[in-house]
Amino acid sequence: MTMGGSTHFSVFLLVAIILLCSSSKTVNATCYASEKQALMDFKKDLEDPYGRLLSWIHDVDCCKWEGVVCSNRSGRVIQLHLQRHDPEIADFGGGEILPLSGKISHSLQNLTHLRYLDLSLNDFSGIPIPSFFGSLRSLRYLNLSGAGFQGMVPYQLGNLSSLRTLSIGGNPSDLQVDNLQWLVGLSNLEHLDMSRMNLSTASNWLEVITRLKAHCPELIHLNNLISLNLQGNHLNGPIPSTVGNCTQLEHLSLNDNALSGSIPSNLGKLSSLVHLDVAGNKLTGTLPESLWQLPKLEVLYIADNLIEGVVSESYLDNLTTLTYFDASGNSLTLKVSASWTPRAQFVTLGLGSWKLGPQFPIWIRSQKILQYLNLSFAGISDTIPPWLFNSSLDTVYLSHNQIHGGISHILCEVKNENQVLQYLDLRENSLSGEIPDCWMNYPFMYHINLNSNNFTGSIPRSLFHLEYLDYLGLGNNSLTGPITFDFVNHE
Ligand SMILES: *[C@@H]1O[C@H](CO)[C@@H](O)[C@H](O)[C@H]1NC(C)=O
Ligand SMILES: *[C@@H]1O[C@H](CO)[C@@H](O)[C@H](O)[C@H]1NC(C)=O
Ligand SMILES: *[C@@H]1O[C@H](CO)[C@@H](O)[C@H](O)[C@H]1NC(C)=O
Ligand SMILES: *[C@@H]1O[C@H](CO)[C@@H](O)[C@H](O)[C@H]1NC(C)=O
Ligand SMILES: *[C@@H]1O[C@H](CO)[C@@H](O)[C@H](O)[C@H]1NC(C)=O
Ligand SMILES: *[C@@H]1O[C@H](CO)[C@@H](O)[C@H](O)[C@H]1NC(C)=O
Ligand SMILES: *[C@@H]1O[C@H](CO)[C@@H](O)[C@H](O)[C@H]1NC(C)=O
Ligand SMILES: *[C@@H]1O[C@H](CO)[C@@H](O)[C@H](O)[C@H]1NC(C)=O
Ligand SMILES: *[C@@H]1O[C@H](CO)[C@@H](O)[C@H](O)[C@H]1NC(C)=O
Ligand SMILES: *[C@@H]1O[C@H](CO)[C@@H](O)[C@H](O)[C@H]1NC(C)=O
Ligand SMILES: *[C@@H]1O[C@H](CO)[C@@H](O)[C@H](O)[C@H]1NC(C)=O
Repeated sequence: MTMGGSTHFSVFLLVAIILLCSSSKTVNATCYASEKQALMDFKKDLEDPYGRLLSWIHDVDCCKWEGVVCSNRSGRVIQLHLQRHDPEIADFGGGEILPLSGKISHSLQNLTHLRYLDLSLNDFSGIPIPSFFGSLRSLRYLNLSGAGFQGMVPYQLGNLSSLRTLSIGGNPSDLQVDNLQWLVGLSNLEHLDMSRMNLSTASNWLEVITRLKAHCPELIHLNNLISLNLQGNHLNGPIPSTVGNCTQLEHLSLNDNALSGSIPSNLGKLSSLVHLDVAGNKLTGTLPESLWQLPKLEVLYIADNLIEGVVSESYLDNLTTLTYFDASGNSLTLKVSASWTPRAQFVTLGLGSWKLGPQFPIWIRSQKILQYLNLSFAGISDTIPPWLFNSSLDTVYLSHNQIHGGISHILCEVKNENQVLQYLDLRENSLSGEIPDCWMNYPFMYHINLNSNNFTGSIPRSLFHLEYLDYLGLGNNSLTGPITFDFVNHE
């Protein structure tokens, strides 16, 4: 591609104007010639179809280049912010921001003061994570998530003893790890994201994580591991009970693995824990009592395991901060009194497959910010209470119960201007009467499943005014008109 001299000139002028306009905010740190050269060499090996590095030109101080941050005091390059912003979010009407790709020059090694390196969401497919990253000894933050790197993660990263954040997971990646021993060298680590990497052959993950934890008591006066994300890694075996040693842990994601055994009761020692996700494993046994004593817990995802036992109101009432709770797909029983009003306000409540019925759980009426409710397969043999849809709910699963009675009056008598219901699954119940004809009151509906009930009458016209509808299931009812009706909008 060639450009006319005048284009070059106007690009330069534009950059100069932008820099002039913003110069009042920047401090006069001038970059080192050797560091500028290192960055120029780095740029030379990159492909930059979007022109994100357009400001990286020789005549401009590299401390003023896009994505480059220098120390105000020393003028050294200390941060490189080269992540691609999520195209879904950062679409300014100008189309998709294209990723950087190509090779990563060894010249980066000359940025000896670099503390922060973010290359996430670019496209370095085909190359491994450069092992020389292990020599960037000042690094505190390294984010390579979703950047397409392939091959073995270099154990040299274990030399980054100042590292606070290491993020190399994220998207399903082709990165491999056969051994996690090097992690033990990261003694200052606070945030570790190695999600969705397939650690199934890292046979010593348990031992290493345990040793990371074992560091924790000593690290109380350094820093501690605050977040650990190992979701989607084909991990197996039990959750080590030494997990309880890491009392600073705030965020623990071990979901979508093949972990077995019961949830260790030592988990109750993690008094800083805010987010716990162990959903989608093979965990068995009962929930440890200590779980209900975590004073800061806001997110508890344990869905789709083999956990059993009884959860009583006193347990749930202990977790007053709990806001996102999904425990569907286990063999749990809820035991609460008829007059119970939970102390917590949930946004997400997943109690699918719990033994809840036969009555509809009326305590849900107290939930003022509830958006997601799953009460499928919950043994409910009752009518739907009229207040259910006069609420903030956007997603409702009530399938596979013995719910009876009509729904027309329930849906149509709601006078809620801010109706946000989008997803309604009532299939496999014993609901009867006519299909409601007030769907214009629910303009955001995109999924309605009324299959396998006992609805009668005809298909109401207002259904066809739902602009976003992409699934409508009316099969296995006693409707007049089409006997079986399954409507999928492919637009
Ligand atoms: C440098 O100083 C400016 C202005 O005070 C400030 O906005 C900026 O964050 C500082 N940069 C660093 C890396 O500390
Ligand atoms: C680092 O800088 C030195 C001195 O400026 C230079 O000789 C060397 O080639 C650079 N190394 C890399 C890998 O760019
Ligand atoms: C790493 O980058 C991804 C994508 O830009 C971002 O979503 C994630 O929060 C970052 N991780 C950390 C620990 O900062
Ligand atoms: C870590 O650095 C030391 C020197 O400080 C070096 O001897 C060793 O080979 C490095 N280890 C790795 C794994 O890069
Ligand atoms: C995970 O890695 C192992 C060893 O390379 C491989 O056998 C297995 O198929 C991988 N699993 C998935 C789901 O990719
Ligand atoms: C970790 O916790 C276990 C049991 O909770 C304890 O026996 C062990 O001494 C702890 N490890 C360290 C290093 O403190
Ligand atoms: C509720 O929390 C308190 C204090 O953390 C604890 O003593 C009590 O045993 C907990 N109750 C239940 C039922 O877990
Ligand atoms: C709701 O709960 C049921 C029963 O456990 C489960 O099969 C279903 O996947 C859950 N729905 C969602 C969206 O998680
Ligand atoms: C719905 O809820 C609002 C406020 O929560 C209440 O004022 C109203 O009476 C309720 N009932 C109906 C049928 O809209
Ligand atoms: C539907 O209604 C018929 C007749 O009233 C009844 O025999 C049948 O059991 C009902 N089916 C269901 C699933 O409730
Ligand atoms: C209707 O019922 C039959 C038999 O139970 C089932 O196989 C079919 O999937 C159902 N159809 C719908 C649309 O739910």
